[in-house]
Order: sequence, then C-alpha cells, then structure tokens
Amino acid sequence: MAVQAQHVMDVQTKKVGAEVSPTMYGLFFEDINYAADGGLYAELVKNRSFEFPNPFTGWDISGKVTLKNDGPFEKNPHYVRMAPSGHSDKHTMIENHGFFGMGIKAGEEYRFSVWARVPDGGKSKLWIDLVDNATMRDDQKLGNTSVEVSGKEWKKYTAIIKPNRTFAKAHLRVWGDSKVTTDVEHVSLFPVKTFKGRENGMREDLAQALADVHPGVFRFPGGCIVEGTDLATRYQWKNTVGPVENRPLNENRWHYTFTNRYFPDYFQTYGLGFFEFFQLCEDIKAEPLPVLSVGLSCQFQNRRESDHVAMDALQPYIDDCLDLIEFANGPVDSKWGKLRADMGHPEPFNMKYIGIGNEQWDTPYFERLKPFVTAVRAKYPNIKIVGTSGPDSEGKMFEKGWEAMKAQKADLVDEHFYRPENFFLGTADGKKRYGNCGALRYDSYDRKGPKVFAGEYACHGAGKKWNHYETSLYEAAFMTGIERNADIVEMATYAPLFAHVEGWQWRPDMIWYDNMRMFKSVSYYVQQMYAMYKGTNVLKLTTKDPADAKGKKQIPVAGQDGMDGLFASSVFDKTTGEVIIKIVNTSKKAQAVCVNLLDMKGERTAEIITLQHKGSMDDENTLDQPLKIRPVDGTVQCGVTGKKQQTVLNDEVPAMSFRLYRIKK
Ligand code: AHR
Repeated sequence: MAVQAQHVMDVQTKKVGAEVSPTMYGLFFEDINYAADGGLYAELVKNRSFEFPNPFTGWDISGKVTLKNDGPFEKNPHYVRMAPSGHSDKHTMIENHGFFGMGIKAGEEYRFSVWARVPDGGKSKLWIDLVDNATMRDDQKLGNTSVEVSGKEWKKYTAIIKPNRTFAKAHLRVWGDSKVTTDVEHVSLFPVKTFKGRENGMREDLAQALADVHPGVFRFPGGCIVEGTDLATRYQWKNTVGPVENRPLNENRWHYTFTNRYFPDYFQTYGLGFFEFFQLCEDIKAEPLPVLSVGLSCQFQNRRESDHVAMDALQPYIDDCLDLIEFANGPVDSKWGKLRADMGHPEPFNMKYIGIGNEQWDTPYFERLKPFVTAVRAKYPNIKIVGTSGPDSEGKMFEKGWEAMKAQKADLVDEHFYRPENFFLGTADGKKRYGNCGALRYDSYDRKGPKVFAGEYACHGAGKKWNHYETSLYEAAFMTGIERNADIVEMATYAPLFAHVEGWQWRPDMIWYDNMRMFKSVSYYVQQMYAMYKGTNVLKLTTKDPADAKGKKQIPVAGQDGMDGLFASSVFDKTTGEVIIKIVNTSKKAQAVCVNLLDMKGERTAEIITLQHKGSMDDENTLDQPLKIRPVDGTVQCGVTGKKQQTVLNDEVPAMSFRLYRIKK
C-alpha cells in the first residue's frame, strides 16, 4: 500500500484548553424500531393488559374467553374471563406471541406474573406453558409452571419457569381451570436476569451495551414521539409513572409513520417510563436529559395552528415540565417527589437539564417556549434549558431558530443532522453543497450564545442507509470537530439508538438485536471510542496551512484541501494524565504522520486503538458476524527529536481508518 508524504502535526501538551463537558458523547433513546417494548424493556408479553385497540392483538384464544372492562386498574380496565367449556377435552386457553416471538434461554429463570381472581369465589388453577409451536416437536413444551388462584379479590400471582431448551420464537400459554371460571389481567413474563436484577427491568445485554459506551448523557424519550402525531398521542410523562399495571397505553407513531415499514402491533405500554429512565441513567452513570412537549404536535404532520395547543391553554404543559423536575429532584414530602420515593427512590435523581420541544421551528415554537423558560427559570434557576434549532442543520429556518434561542437565552440548542457523506466530510458533491458542514462546522460558532447539543445525527450514506463501515468512519472524522470545539459543544448523541432486526422503521441505528442476540454497529464503536476517551480538556492540535506560502499559519487538521483526507483532534485527561490523540484517515491510502508532542520529553509507548476494515467499505456488523468490524488494541513507540529530546509520534495511519493514541504525560 502506497504511503503519502508525511503530515506533520503539533500538539500543545502544556497549555490545556477548554474543559470537555462530562456530558459529552451520550445516548439518544426513542421508542422507534421496537426500542422499548420488544427491545430494551425486558417484558416478553405483548399487549399484556388487553388494552390494544384490538384487545386480542398478540393473542390467540381458545375456548370460552371473553373480554371484560371493569378490571382493577382504572387506566387499563380490560381483562379476560376464562370459563370452563363444560367438556373435559375442550380447553380454555390464551396464547401470547410476544414480540416476534419470545427469546427464551435454556436453564434461565423467567418470572411469570398475573393478576387474577375467582369471580364466583373459591379456588382455581392456571397452567402456564412456554411453547415452541413453530418447529416440529413431539412435545411443544419448553417449560411450565402453575399458579393457584383464590378468592374474589384481585391479587398478583407469580411463578418461575425454567425452560429446558433455547428458542427465539417461543409463545406463552395460559390454560384456564377446567372447572372454575378465572379472571385474568396483566399477564407478564420477564427474565429474572435483567440489568441490575430489577423486576420491571431492562434486557441485560442491551442495557450493558449502553453502559459500555460510558455515556455522558442520556436523552429520553425522543424524538418525534415527544410531540405525537397529534396532541392526544404526545408523550405524557405522568402516564409513565406509578404502578406499571396502571400506566395507560399510547399509540406509537412509528407503527404507521412509514407505510413501507408498517407495524400495526406497535404501541407504547410505558413499562419503561420516566422512573425507569432516571434509574437507568443512575445505573449507567449518564446525566439524564428528558425532553418534553412544548404544546406543538409534530409540525411536519400538523400544519394548522388549531392542531397545536393555544397559547392561553399552555399552562398544563408548563406544569408538566415543572412537575417533572419535582419528580426527579423534589423532596419526598412534595407531591411528585413523594411518588418517586413511593416507587423506591427517595433520594433525588439530581437532574440538571430539560429539553423543551423536539424538532420544532418558527414562531409557533418560539412563542410557546417563552413561558416555559420563564416558569423554569423562576422556580428552578439551576436547571439548564435545551431548546431546538428545528429539523434542518443549516438554512433560513435553522438560523432563525438559533437567533430565537439566543434571544430567549436557552442554555443549549439541540441540532439534528441526518446527512450524507459530504456533510460529514465537509466537501461538495457537485450537486448539493451543504453550508457550515464537516469538522470545521463549530469552529465559527458564536461563543457568546447558547451551547450546542448535537442531539441527533448519523451519516446516511447515499442510496444505502445502513450502518456500513464507510459512513461510520466519516462520523469519526466529523467528531474531531466536535472534540476540538468542546468549549461550545456540550453534548452529542448519535441517533437512533436501538433497532429490532425484524421491526425497524429507521436506519442506520447504533445497536441492533433480535430476541436472542445483539450486535454493535461500527457507529457504536466510534461513539464509544470518543466517549471512553473524551478527556477533560482540549489540546490544540494543528498543522501548517498547505496554502500558506510562508509556512507559518497553523490550522486544524479537518479534512481541508492538502490534508489528504486526514482529520485529527487531541485532548488531555487530567484524571489519567494521558494525552489522547484521535486521527481519522478518510483517504484510500495509508498516511505517514509525525505528531510533535510539544513540551513532552523522552521516549514513550503509546497505547493505540484502531478501527479499520480491510474488506468492502459497504461491510457492516451483523447478528451472525457481530465482531466483524471492531476496534483493536495495540501499541506504537514514540521517539524523540532535537536537542531537547522532545517526544514525537511517528506512525502510519492505515487507509480508511480511525486511530486513537494514549500517551502518558
Ligand atoms: O431519530 C428518528 C427521528 O428523526 C426522530 O424521532 C426525530 O426527532 C428526527 O426527525
């Protein structure tokens, strides 16, 4: 492989620059692509409360099963009555299909639970089977248990099932008593092993993948889901707290937004609600960033003023916002602080940020945001407010958004950019040139205004919107600009986060899974490399401007002409004492680099991590080859130069690769 002429870079290691915010490089969660129910939320039963518009969605019923609607949970009133058929061979049974089946592992424990009663009094028995009725077996049963139900009062019953075989598409069967009528509600099945062992918990492998990013911030619950297709379907956090049995169902807009990826059984049960979100943030040590409705339903889908909340009817929305802060941080004797304590967390969650509005724009947004800002500032002056510049990453409406956020003194502005290769590399493609793009994007931002939250972004490769290697590399290149501008960029979250391989609506995504397995996309590894090695302070990394004839002008290495596709940035980590250098080579040739570590002396060993792929640039990780492309550790020796024995790093950065160096100072 031919090597280009050497690129010389200087890193000022003595004078540390702007602080890198601890919130840098985080996670954006939205219930899209079956990210919550059927994904991170470990519940295996779909439509467990029979509240879907078709109450038997996800269920097969057999025998005398009738739907009733005066159950014990006010907001989920449906339940089923299972009556004996009167004939010993005719069984009454309900069978749940799970989310694309249920992923069941041999030898693991599963907690079945149900609310039940015997309406006529006395005792009855429910038989529970986990079955494989998809493959040809003599016995469909994978495991079974039973519960004895007694009395006319509703009670919760639980039992453990330990399946004898692993199966990705299991169903759950609940058989009624052959002699006694039994009422059944909130039928649930969880793996006992959830993340941190929580009963209403998260799928262990997926939550662990989140923790392994070492995320600085966790944004929740979206995305467009915050706004709703209409106001009635917006995300209302108060519906997502308290006992899970009584959290009302909501539509999920991703069920129908794209008719070419239509999922009529996709709803939100809110089992993963705001309490679980805050708890997960605590578990994975990420700063919580909730985003709430500003009283605008999705502006793409609702063009009339009457589709949104009138200005004089906004108070309940503002109250929701204030109440959420109280739920997270308030004392246990406050209304919402008490609910948090009752749910098992008397200590405050210490939330510091709140997003108001998702992708909103223009006057309807600006005028509604204002009273929110006034109210939050008055009651919670320490909470940082995140506004938005809308769905565009440049152009008139984007600039108008930024101006309005400055005028309203938002603390941060949420920017979204799902853009092609050229945007991330900062080059023109002859057809469309993006303004203010590439790794130089933030160099020119106004330092006196709000900070940036790069809240949703991903490189969408032209014609192939999936997680292939090349686009992930361009994300890494772009992120050198985020890192260099840590004084203005306070948070950045790739989006979306999760996708079920059988139920996605949007791609690329960071983490993919089916019912048994998961894999991390190359973009995941890029995010992880930045998040784990974000450092504490920016270090100036420059090179001589190739366009400067006198050879004096120093410029950032950000993929400009003459850089041969190189991008670079550097940080110092005060806690580890390491200088960290990130170099992305987006050219098809290996590049020789010489990095002068100014003010460092002597030879050293640099730890390196390389993300490189020698196959097709269109390759991606998959469930079958989850580790096809991943970072690899190594070392490289740093030599010395000049009389002062200054440390110098000479290396050859492979073609189309991202290499990270850590050198103890
Ligand atoms: O991430 C998918 C969607 O993209 C989000 O819901 C929305 O904010 C953006 O348009």
